[in-house]
Amino acid sequence: MKTVQCIAIISLILVVIADSSTSLPTAKVFAHLGENVTLPCRLLHKDSGAFGDVGIRVKWTKKDSDEEEDVLLSMGFHKKTYGSFEDRVHLLQQDSEDASLVIDDVTFDDVGKYHCEVINGMKDTVQEVILALKGSEALGVVFPYSPPLGRYNLNFKSAVMTCKDQGALVASYEQLYNAWRGGLDWCNAGWLNDGTVQYPITKPREPCGGVKNGPGLRNYGRRDKKSLFDVFCFAPAVNGHVYWLEQPERLSFYEAVQACLDDGAEIANVGQIFAAWKIDRFDRCDAGWLADGSVRYPITRPRRNCSPTEAAVRFVGFPEKMQKSFGVYCYKNQ
Ligand SMILES: *[C@@H]1O[C@H](CO)[C@@H](O)[C@H](O)[C@H]1NC(C)=O
Repeated sequence: MKTVQCIAIISLILVVIADSSTSLPTAKVFAHLGENVTLPCRLLHKDSGAFGDVGIRVKWTKKDSDEEEDVLLSMGFHKKTYGSFEDRVHLLQQDSEDASLVIDDVTFDDVGKYHCEVINGMKDTVQEVILALKGSEALGVVFPYSPPLGRYNLNFKSAVMTCKDQGALVASYEQLYNAWRGGLDWCNAGWLNDGTVQYPITKPREPCGGVKNGPGLRNYGRRDKKSLFDVFCFAPAVNGHVYWLEQPERLSFYEAVQACLDDGAEIANVGQIFAAWKIDRFDRCDAGWLADGSVRYPITRPRRNCSPTEAAVRFVGFPEKMQKSFGVYCYKNQ
């Protein structure tokens, strides 16, 4: 009698365990920007079923710190893709248990943590996959820079100095190319470190080198180093921490510099805000002073009133430095 009870209790416990959601070890996948990448996930044996079976659902979501984004949902033969993943993802389905996700044309924004959830009746399995970049793209970010005087005011030498002032280097051709594959579109020509002048176009249009050429880098070739253009800088990933300084009042540029110092930090430069935005997905819908006297704000989740159409570091301008209209972004070494 005792044994029977015991077995009954054990099997009850087993049923409870099997029914609760099970998590498996995290897989990590590395990709170059612009590649097609496969994130692995399998229907497990105990799911005992296959695609097309009624009742088996596969749900891919992307997890960003506190946000969850739907990627793909598969129910039987029905499949749906969502948001920025629409028509860009599909299930690999190499065999009847393969629920791996293929993402075409990987962009910076695709980087992060994914969950593959297989729901079969009461059973719910979650497999976690991290998508990371490999190669030089993982280490920094390319950004275009125009000085306070306005566009096309930098000769090659001042371009080098300008990037340096932003904690960055003049970008190489390879870095700009990778940034273009990652979705960078910029219609002003800028210096690269090989002395050529180019700009990246992902959405071809008439004023930006025409529509006939298709997407790509528009290349003006090697230019006289005295001629004037913008510049593409490459900022390394930040070791420290970029943050919005919480303070009661709007500040002038000079007060902003001091406020960061008072907080044991320094005012962030443009390279740091781009790196924090791209690599750490820093998002803040408040215009803040930066070290070069510009005012910008980083948006990774486009929304109403906050860069609604694209993820970007928005540029407000180079306001009069006495103007007390903005907050400040600070940088602290960790
Ligand atoms: C990625 O896949 C798409 C079709 O799904 C294909 O057109 C494209 O050439 C592939 N890209 C690469 C880099 O293999």
